Amino acid sequence: MKKLAFFDTKPYDKEWFDKYNKDYEITYFESKLTARSVKLAEGFDAVCAFVNDQINEYVIDKLCEYGIGIIAMRCAGYNNIDMKYAKDKIKVVRVPAYSPYAVAEHAMAMLQTLNRHLHKAYNRTRDFNFSIVGLTGTDLHGKTAGVIGTGKIGRVFIDICRGFGINVLAYDPYPIPDSDINYTDLDTLLRESDIISLHCPLTDETYYTLDKRAFRLMTKKPYIINTSRGGLIDSSALLDALNSETIRGAVLDVYEEETELFYEDNSDKIIHDDVLSLLVSRPNVIITSHQAFLTEEALAAISETTLGNLNEYFSKKENGDNEKLTNEV
Ligand code: NAI
Repeated sequence: MKKLAFFDTKPYDKEWFDKYNKDYEITYFESKLTARSVKLAEGFDAVCAFVNDQINEYVIDKLCEYGIGIIAMRCAGYNNIDMKYAKDKIKVVRVPAYSPYAVAEHAMAMLQTLNRHLHKAYNRTRDFNFSIVGLTGTDLHGKTAGVIGTGKIGRVFIDICRGFGINVLAYDPYPIPDSDINYTDLDTLLRESDIISLHCPLTDETYYTLDKRAFRLMTKKPYIINTSRGGLIDSSALLDALNSETIRGAVLDVYEEETELFYEDNSDKIIHDDVLSLLVSRPNVIITSHQAFLTEEALAAISETTLGNLNEYFSKKENGDNEKLTNEV
């Protein structure tokens, strides 16, 4: 049996991978895959990694030195891998689509929670406080949502918005041809939207899509939703926009400095990230810990696709296909 080193393991990973695995001897490590932990991969045939592992040149060199030919990412994004460096050295596979519904539904759930103050209402009624003062929201019906990125998740989010009677504007440099989506340029979207939701990947081009300039263009005091990647928003500029009431609020499933914090219980620690501390303290900000993907359907699809990607790689390798040179991402 091939040996798989599984990094950044959480109990739900183990549960779902064990359910679908037949072909691999999997060792589950709690540690993230980083320059410090890569030694754990020695003696394995493959590694499986996740969104906050740090797969830089050093890690890639070490994996190659250990004779490992494949990194199986159990996620869609791959911005945490030095792909340029990996290109001709090691095969990288990922799960490009598992459940766009999981992420898009979470985005809408977060928006609804903030807009109708459900988080506060829940806490109040648990304490038999049945006051509704301060819980006024707005109708979403008739508002305009600006969707940045109309790929798999963006499109599902657009459908959900339409179900609410929300008008949709969209920006994507690669618009879907002949679609019924109302595309516009980014500045117009920023100016005209009551809700702005990010659904594009993090690349050099999309880094800080929402920066100081972008927030200055927002005239309709929008809600900001980010379920994509933290680096799409300049968090300090976001904080300024909240302080100046340029925006109505923000819901964030991702944060640009999340790597050391998200997915862990830090409740007994002093958090030295002042921007995050200030964001958490704002009444009109809700943060979740990169959990938008976390549904049973998505976890099942992630396990099946990741194991399928590994099977395909090893069977091609056994048949003499040089898969190493075909990184498509
Ligand atoms: P996708 O690849 O189907 O769609 C991405 C879209 O973004 C494409 O239509 C592309 O043309 C567009 N795009 C590229 N550059 C752009 C730019 N400069 N401005 C606007 N749009 C641009 O990806 P999918 O599956 O919809 O996922 C989107 C993102 O969601 C992923 O890249 C990932 O970062 C994030 N994600 C977050 C998860 C979570 O748990 N929070 C889970 C899964 C994905």
